[in-house]
Amino acid sequence: MPGTVIVGTQWGDEGKGRFVDNLSERADFVVRYQGGHNAGHTIVADGQTLKLQLVPSGILHSRVTAVIGNGVVVDPAVLLAELDMLEAKGVSTAKVKLSGNAHLIMPYHQELDRATERFLGASKLGTTKRGIGPAYADKASRIGIRVQDLLDAGIFKKKLDLAVREKNAVLAKVYNRLPLDGRDIYESYLAMLPRLEPLIADTVFLVNEALRDGREVLFEGAQATFLDLDHGTYPYVTSSNPISGGVCTGAGVGPRAIDRIVGVVKAYLTRVGEGPFPTELFDEVGDMLVERGREFGTNTGRRRRPGWLDVVMLRHAVMLNTCTELAMTKLDVLSTLAEIKVCVAYEADGVRYEHLPYHQTVLHHVTPVFETLPGWRCDISTCRRFSDLPPQARDYVRRVETLAGVPVTMVSVGPDRDQSLNLDGAA
Ligand code: GDP
Ligand code: IMO
Ligand code: MG
Repeated sequence: MPGTVIVGTQWGDEGKGRFVDNLSERADFVVRYQGGHNAGHTIVADGQTLKLQLVPSGILHSRVTAVIGNGVVVDPAVLLAELDMLEAKGVSTAKVKLSGNAHLIMPYHQELDRATERFLGASKLGTTKRGIGPAYADKASRIGIRVQDLLDAGIFKKKLDLAVREKNAVLAKVYNRLPLDGRDIYESYLAMLPRLEPLIADTVFLVNEALRDGREVLFEGAQATFLDLDHGTYPYVTSSNPISGGVCTGAGVGPRAIDRIVGVVKAYLTRVGEGPFPTELFDEVGDMLVERGREFGTNTGRRRRPGWLDVVMLRHAVMLNTCTELAMTKLDVLSTLAEIKVCVAYEADGVRYEHLPYHQTVLHHVTPVFETLPGWRCDISTCRRFSDLPPQARDYVRRVETLAGVPVTMVSVGPDRDQSLNLDGAA
């Protein structure tokens, strides 16, 4: 049975984690394929809130093997702390597997992330300062250190010494920062090995074997389509490939291993950090979305920038990811509005754009063309079937579905597990 991908269609924080948790009920494997602890995935199960950064969001289901794939960048101290947090909450982490090919985030990556953001000044990207960009840069430059390097202290020392010498030169001479102590890093990373070693596995083989044997495999995207290094609003992106195609490199499976691709779309839009945002709201409606939607970073606590749903972007995401369906979150957040706007096209310099303009200078200057739909103005958080929703809410979902060109199969009306509605066969 080929696998299912869950991918963000916007700028992240769509609520991927909650649908990964929902779909994990029937899964055998849940695999993270990119990103690192820049991700913050929240699951609310029976009133208990879990915030995950590295461990796949299927972890609450005891049948699930939770795989951190080769495409992920791993801060081992963060991973161990997350495992401790889960165990303390009574969640077993016995089935967590870590790819030996995953790259390690080192202290100098975090230091460089902070230093470069400061250096960029007004042109900063607004990163999470977790060292993600510098770690992927080292991977591409072939001076990265992989999880498996910890298994050979001699190799680890050799690679670390080289890296520290180069990074310290850059930190001191370019950014005027204090050098880092290579010995401290060496000792602290090797001290974590006894706990890490039992997790390390040949995850590519494990996942492919599972697929071959007809087991249910979910691939969990972090970040989202418009934060994709190649397809997002570069340079205001992350340094990995969250799009569904990223599963092939980040988990080590072929394209034929995937047959279901669920694009997660929030009923409105948010973005954290800098970059263009055509439907951004600076008024009280934006404040309401932030307040009712609790739009503050899971990870950094930053206020997320709010805006209306942008279907030009959504259509592009459906195309890039070849989404077979959409899952819409946070419909309940719109419940107080008399009118809801959806951006269906852009205009710039007298030109109408139905597709995302490839030239980003244009995207920075477009004016959104809105379609206005009536709101429902009542609480929908207790609805448990699609047919329980007021007609205006159903019409909103159906209109987005028509505009996006793929079916919406799931809708959520609150963060808790039982607040997601299945649309299979729903009128
Ligand atoms: P992710 O990064 O895509 O997994 O999303 P986050 O966890 O960062 O952000 C989504 C936030 O919205 C979390 O706090 C969720 O608990 C919450 N959430 C998810 N679905 C819903 C929903 O349908 N309604 C409401 N009100 N909150 C939701
Ligand atoms: P989840 O998985 C929202 C954003 C940062 C910044 C840019 C680059 O929870 O949806 P980075 O630290 O990755 O180099 O920062 O990407 N960003 C996210 N925004 N959700 C995320 O993850 C994000 N991960 C990174 O805010 O603008
Ligand atoms: Mg998040």
